[in-house]
Amino acid sequence: MKQAKCIIEKDYQIAHTDPRLYGSFIEHLGRAVYTGIYEPNHPTADEQGFRRDVLDLVRQLQVPIIRYPGGNFVSGYNWTDGIGPVKNRPKRLDLAWKSVETNEIGIDEFVDWCQKAGSEVMEAVNLGTGTPAEAANLVEYCNYPAGTYWSDLRRQNGHSNPYNIKVWCLGNEMDGSWQTCHLSAADYGKKALEAAKMMRWIDPTIELVACGSSTSGMPTFPEWDRTVLETLYEQVDFLSLHSYFGHDDVETTGDFLASFVNMDHFIKTIIATADYVKAKTRSPKSLNLSFDEWNVWANRHAEPENWDYAKPRLEQIYNLTDALVLGGLLCSLLNHADRVRMACLAQLINAIAPIYTQAGGPVIKQSIFYPFQQVSTYGRGIVLKPIMLCPKFESKVYGDVPLLQSAVILNQETNEVSIFVLNCDQNEDVEMDLDFRSFGAVAPLEHVVLDGPDPAAVNSFEEPERVKPRNVAIDGQDETRPKVVLPKLSWNMLRLAIR
Ligand code: AHR
Repeated sequence: MKQAKCIIEKDYQIAHTDPRLYGSFIEHLGRAVYTGIYEPNHPTADEQGFRRDVLDLVRQLQVPIIRYPGGNFVSGYNWTDGIGPVKNRPKRLDLAWKSVETNEIGIDEFVDWCQKAGSEVMEAVNLGTGTPAEAANLVEYCNYPAGTYWSDLRRQNGHSNPYNIKVWCLGNEMDGSWQTCHLSAADYGKKALEAAKMMRWIDPTIELVACGSSTSGMPTFPEWDRTVLETLYEQVDFLSLHSYFGHDDVETTGDFLASFVNMDHFIKTIIATADYVKAKTRSPKSLNLSFDEWNVWANRHAEPENWDYAKPRLEQIYNLTDALVLGGLLCSLLNHADRVRMACLAQLINAIAPIYTQAGGPVIKQSIFYPFQQVSTYGRGIVLKPIMLCPKFESKVYGDVPLLQSAVILNQETNEVSIFVLNCDQNEDVEMDLDFRSFGAVAPLEHVVLDGPDPAAVNSFEEPERVKPRNVAIDGQDETRPKVVLPKLSWNMLRLAIR
C-alpha cells in the first residue's frame, strides 16, 4: 500500500468560503426546464406545474444560487417573450440549441421556482442580439419597487415585491464564434460597459460578472480577458470562467483524473491576468472570479440536430470515474476560494446534470450528485492549506501529478474539520497519515467513500443506486495522528470533531 502524509495547521488559512461557490445553472436547453423543473402533468407537479420530486433533490444539493436562462440560449433571448399571460407568449426558434422555445417558463416563474428550491437567481442578460437598454429594462422589471413602466408590469404580472436579484452576468461566452452575435473583446468591452452603467444606475446594489474566456483552449485566451478587463475593471465585481472536462479530450484515464491540474492552471492564469490589469489601472481592488460553468462533459462538440420542443440534449450519463473527476475539480475550486468566490455546476437538471428525470416518470441521482452534495454540505467554513506529502503519477498531458488531490475545511461553528480527497491511483490503496499538530486531539466522525469495482458503472432508472457512497469504519478514537486508508480510485470525505 502506498503511503501519504497530510499536515493540517489551523492557522494556514486560504479563505472563508462564499456559499455561492456551490451554485448551479439552468438553461433553456433540452429538457432542463421542460420536463426537468416544469412538467404540469407529472404526478408530483405542484400548483405551478413544478415537479416536487425534482425540487426535493435540488434542495438536497443545497444550491444557493442558480444561473439562468443561459448559456448560449441567452444570446438570442428576448426576456419579454417570457412574461405576461402564458397563452399570449410567442413560440420562437432558439438558434443556440436548434429547438422551439414555448416561453411557458420565464423570469417570473423561475424566480418562484428558485424560492421553492431555496436558491437565489443569478440572471444573465442578452448581450448578443440584446441591447444595453433591454438589459437595463430587465433590471428595472426585477428590482425596481414600483411606479415605473417595467416595475408596474411585474406587479401586474403578479409579483408586487421586487425580486432584488443581486448577481447579473453581462452576457455569455461572447468570445465564442458559436455565440449568437459573438463579439471581439474590444466590442464586447464597450457594449458590456454601457450595459453595466445603465443596470447599476437603476440598481446600484447589484453585482456584475463580465464574460471571461469560455475555455482556456480559446485562441484568444487570455488576451480576451486582459482586453475586456482593461475596459470593465472598475465596473464589474467578477470575471467569469467556463471549463468542461471530458475523458475524450485527453489520452488516458490518468489524464482525465488529473483534470484538476487543468482547472488550477486556468484559475491561476486568470488571476494573473486580472492582477496585471489591477496593476496597470492602479486599482485598489482585486477582482474576484466566478467559475460559472464547470463540469465533466464528454462529446461536447456534437452539433444540435433539429428544431423540436423539449428534445433530450446533452443528456450525459455520468459514471463513477466522472464523479471522481468532479470531486477533484471541487477541491480545486475550494483551494482557490480566496479569489473564486462563486461557481456554478453546469448544469443542474437533465442537460449535463446531477439530476436526471424521465418525462412522466421518476427522477434519479447521477453519480456526480454525490461529491457535489457532500462538498456543498460540509465544504463551508475556512479553507485550510494542508501540506500533502504523497507520491506522484505520470500523466501524459500534465506530467507529474500528485496521486492525491484534496481540500480541507475548518468549520468553526460545528467545530469540525472536513477533508475531501481524490485518490487517483488506479491500482493501489493509499494509507494517509493525518497530522493535526496544532489542533490537539481530534475524533473521527465519518469516512464516506465513493468507489467501486467498475469505474464505468452508472445509475439508471432500472438501477438508480448502483453508484453511491458507502460509509467505512474508522479505527481509533481521539488522537492527533489518525490514519485512514483511501481505496484505489476513490473519492473520500472524512469528517473529524475537534476536541
Ligand atoms: O452548458 C452548456 C453550454 O456550454 C452553455 O450554453 C454555454 O455557455 C457553454 O458553452
